[in-house]
Parts: sequence; structure tokens; C-alpha cells
Amino acid sequence: MNEMRIPYHVGIIMDGNGRWATKRGKKRSAGHLEGSKTLEKLAIYANKRGVKILSVYAFSTDNFKRSSEEVNYLMDLFIMQFNNKMSKIDKEGIRVIFSGRRHPLREDVLEAMDKITEKTKNNKNGILNICLNYGGMEEIVDAAKKIAIDFADDVIKLDDIDKQSFNKYLYQNLPPVDLLIRTSGEYRISNFMPYQITYSEFYFTDVLFPDFNEKEFEKALESFNSRDRRFGNAK
Ligand code: FPP
Repeated sequence: MNEMRIPYHVGIIMDGNGRWATKRGKKRSAGHLEGSKTLEKLAIYANKRGVKILSVYAFSTDNFKRSSEEVNYLMDLFIMQFNNKMSKIDKEGIRVIFSGRRHPLREDVLEAMDKITEKTKNNKNGILNICLNYGGMEEIVDAAKKIAIDFADDVIKLDDIDKQSFNKYLYQNLPPVDLLIRTSGEYRISNFMPYQITYSEFYFTDVLFPDFNEKEFEKALESFNSRDRRFGNAK
């Protein structure tokens, strides 16, 4: 049997926390809490399976439209996770980085983000890229602005702007996403990493994110393995 090909960079749109809770007669926040436990286990499992980068959609720029109760719960949950619960991830040698705009995140959230970034900065086994207050079109616009500044300052020439150099102006200079997973039966990208998913394989599942365990992740890897990736080439 051929050896399994493991995607280098996996993205997950972690959807369905709210529905998971509502189905159980619980508040939506219970779904987010359960989702955060799933994420911790998954980050470690994916790394053990050889996935080097895991990018997850934790909070979109548009999620600020939710009730202040839900937004505040999520922000408090992030702080709790970054301050206390990510020690296992750190122990596995996984580096935590963030993608997104800092404004208008609360100061205490930014502090917790900076702390976990600093604590794990020398970890070499893999990367957990947490997209928080993230928007994909926003990322491209922000990159274009940074390039415009560098162009005006003579740091970059027009002819030097290409796909690779543009990538360096994104929030993080990461390789493309090989496999993109979305849970909970929705078939949308929702502004998640548009620059990085242009050649991704997509895996959609009805499973709600809190239930997306190691076994379900394995199914996504198997599906990825069955794909014939040609990157525009002929067969
Ligand atoms: C989408 O489900 C999920 C979110 C907006 C939040 C995702 C956050 C987590 C999984 C916690 C992550 C924790 C850390 C530490 C990064 P939804 O609420 O839109 O679900 P619904 O579509 O069923 O309402």
C-alpha cells in the first residue's frame, strides 16, 4: 500500500458550536466551550499525524455583529484558553501565532494573545495559526496598504511585486492551505484565507465542530488522499 500523503497546511472553519448547544437545550456558550476542547485535542492530534500547520477560524471580523453577551463570552474563553489551557499544545512543541486585525480587540485579549505567542515562539514541531478578528478580504486590503507604503518608501519595486512577495505582506507568511475543512454542513468559505486556499482541496462534513474528533479528522485526511491534485496541469 502506498504511504498516506499528509497535508502540510490544514485550515478549519470551526462551525456549528451554537447548534451543538441548542440541540442539547444548552446556551450557545456551552457549544463554544466544547468547541475549544475539541480544538485543543485536534491541534495535538493533527500535529502527531504530521500536519505542520493548522489554521483555525476562531472569530471573524463579522462575528462582532453577534450579541455582546456572546462576543464577551468568546473573548473571555479565548483569554482562559491562552492563559491556562494551552500548556499541552506548548508541551507538544507547537508554536501559536495569530492572524487578524488587532483593532478593536479588548486589551486583555491582546495581552493573552501576546503572552501565548511569546511563550511558544521557539517551538519547532508545528504551528497553530489562530485566525481571530480575521477577515480574508481585509487581509488582502491590509497587505495592499503595506505594499503601497513600502513602494512609496522605495522598499519594494513594482516589478518585485509577485505572488511570493505579496504573501510576505499577509498577516503571516505561511505556505498555501492544502486541505480546507468546514464542519456543520455549510458550503461556504465565509471570508476565510482566500489568498491561501486558491488550490486547496475542500472537505465539507455535516458533523458539528464540537463533535469533530480525531476519528472525523482522520476521515478528512483519507478524503484528501483520494484526491488527484493537478494544480492546473493536465492529467
Ligand atoms: C462558529 O459556530 C464558531 C465560532 C464563531 C467560534 C469558534 C470558536 C471556538 C471553536 C473556540 C476556539 C477556542 C480557541 C481557544 C481559539 P457558530 O457559533 O456559528 O455555530 P452555529 O452556526 O451552529 O450557530
